[in-house]
Amino acid sequence: MTTTTLTHTPQDSGVPASARDLSVQERVVLITGAAQGIGRELARQFAAAGAFSVVADLNFDKAQAVVKEIHDAGGTGFAVKVDVSDETSVTSMVETVMEKCGRIDVLINNASIFATIEKGPFDQIPMEQWEQVLKVNVTGSYLCVRAVAAHMRAAGFGRIINISSDSVTRGIGNYLHYVTSKSALIGMTNALARELGGDGITVNCVRPGMIATEVERTVNPTIEVRERAASQQCIPRGMVPTDLVGIMFFLATPASAFITGQTIACDGGYTHSS
Ligand SMILES: NC(=O)c1ccc[n+]([C@@H]2O[C@H](COP(=O)([O-])OP(=O)(O)OC[C@H]3O[C@@H](n4cnc5c(N)ncnc54)[C@H](O)[C@@H]3O)[C@@H](O)[C@H]2O)c1
Repeated sequence: MTTTTLTHTPQDSGVPASARDLSVQERVVLITGAAQGIGRELARQFAAAGAFSVVADLNFDKAQAVVKEIHDAGGTGFAVKVDVSDETSVTSMVETVMEKCGRIDVLINNASIFATIEKGPFDQIPMEQWEQVLKVNVTGSYLCVRAVAAHMRAAGFGRIINISSDSVTRGIGNYLHYVTSKSALIGMTNALARELGGDGITVNCVRPGMIATEVERTVNPTIEVRERAASQQCIPRGMVPTDLVGIMFFLATPASAFITGQTIACDGGYTHSS
């Protein structure tokens, strides 16, 4: 792995305040589960906008392939192998990022058991599967926050973004382990925001709608289901990963400094907050 020297912090970059506040340039953005799907697209987009993307995933080969795409496009970043559900692995990931970059500005808790999840009636979910989904989707996010918080506190700046799901409000059946895990992230966001707000760290949550990614899923909704969902949105088209870029960039920058403990739906208006 090559060591990257970041020449300055965004706070003293000399860029005029208004432009600087909305820029992700030179931000160190740690994205878990970034080897494919939404995480991959976010890593590519942040890097394309001048951020340093850390592509963290259980699947190191695929994470490296994403970094190659980033480098080929002229961006910066590196891959790190992590099992977010394992404290030692998470600690090692954060140490690696700190060694290479000296800080972590943004954590995106995107890693999840999702594409591989098996649907089934709530009373037939094997206990092992239930525990694994909660361990990765909930405990994994907690462990990542726990590991980055001290560094963000020391820097007086941090942006933590959790990824929930519109399934929480829709209450999709035969999906209880996943829906429960994604609901927990909303409560976690609210409570963490209280504890970290005084340190310049915001904690927010994004609730995406149904997104078609490059990944074949065992729970892929049929075309009919997708079309029906799209027709019920205010913006009646299928959602794509880049639809998340605007809200993610905004939550990652100083421009969102006074917004914390929020869950923001990005679903073409499929659901409404009140
Ligand atoms: N795609 C959608 O329709 C949709 C909708 C709402 C919310 N989401 C959420 O968005 C996020 C990304 O979705 P996606 O469609 O890209 O999912 P995905 O299943 O395609 O990708 C998940 C990534 O997480 C990684 N991962 C799994 N377990 C891990 C672990 N223990 N440690 C580290 N990495 C691990 C996987 O290797 C994979 O690269 C997830 O949190 C998902 O719940 C997705």
